[in-house]
Amino acid sequence: MASIKTGFYLLLFLTTFTYSRAKLCHLKKTEMILYYQNYSGDQNTTTVEIPVPSTGPLDFTKFGAAFCTDDPITEVIKEGSSPIARSRGIYIISSLDGSQAQMIMSIIFINGKYKGSTLEMQGSYEQSEKVSEVAVVGGTGKFRLARGYVTFKTLYYDPVRVYSATQTNITVLHY
Ligand SMILES: *[C@@H]1O[C@H](CO)[C@@H](O)[C@H](O)[C@H]1NC(C)=O
Ligand SMILES: *[C@@H]1O[C@H](CO)[C@@H](O)[C@H](O)[C@H]1NC(C)=O
Ligand SMILES: *[C@@H]1O[C@H](CO)[C@@H](O)[C@H](O)[C@H]1NC(C)=O
Repeated sequence: MASIKTGFYLLLFLTTFTYSRAKLCHLKKTEMILYYQNYSGDQNTTTVEIPVPSTGPLDFTKFGAAFCTDDPITEVIKEGSSPIARSRGIYIISSLDGSQAQMIMSIIFINGKYKGSTLEMQGSYEQSEKVSEVAVVGGTGKFRLARGYVTFKTLYYDPVRVYSATQTNITVLHY
């Protein structure tokens, strides 16, 4: 009798254990190609310098300079298209030669099927490289327990308005 009971509990334990392991291994992979619409000129500004917005052009190569952004992120590169998300956070120019920015940024989805969910990015943004990569270190909502990476490539730059559109490829594993 006792051994039947023990056997039953062992089976129950193994079933539960196997089930939770299976659940743990079942990560979804989501890939997206989106576009940062980034305005650092005088009009429609989405990036300012911390703590005091300087007069004149922002200097993105000055060691120690810090910037706060609220860039719209769109699904097509076209300027003015409806944003699916906003990128809110800071970058600090963190290499002496001004080539790298430490990025601590949330992508906050405001439209579409991920509305209300966020991705958390952190890493070194190589400003001098054509393509820069930072890590996705977490997320919320549909992106709970997310990890992955994001690559950036600026495809359009207008020096007069100081406006750029940056292709943003996101790959994340999440539940
Ligand atoms: C600022 O935004 C308005 C409204 O979206 C737009 O019509 C205008 O062209 C923008 N200005 C610049 C300099 O991008
Ligand atoms: C994004 O993915 C597309 C399609 O695979 C590729 O052509 C493009 O170079 C990628 N861009 C970046 C910034 O990684
Ligand atoms: C925003 O624009 C500034 C100035 O052109 C640039 O240094 C920064 O890397 C841009 N950010 C993104 C996410 O494209």
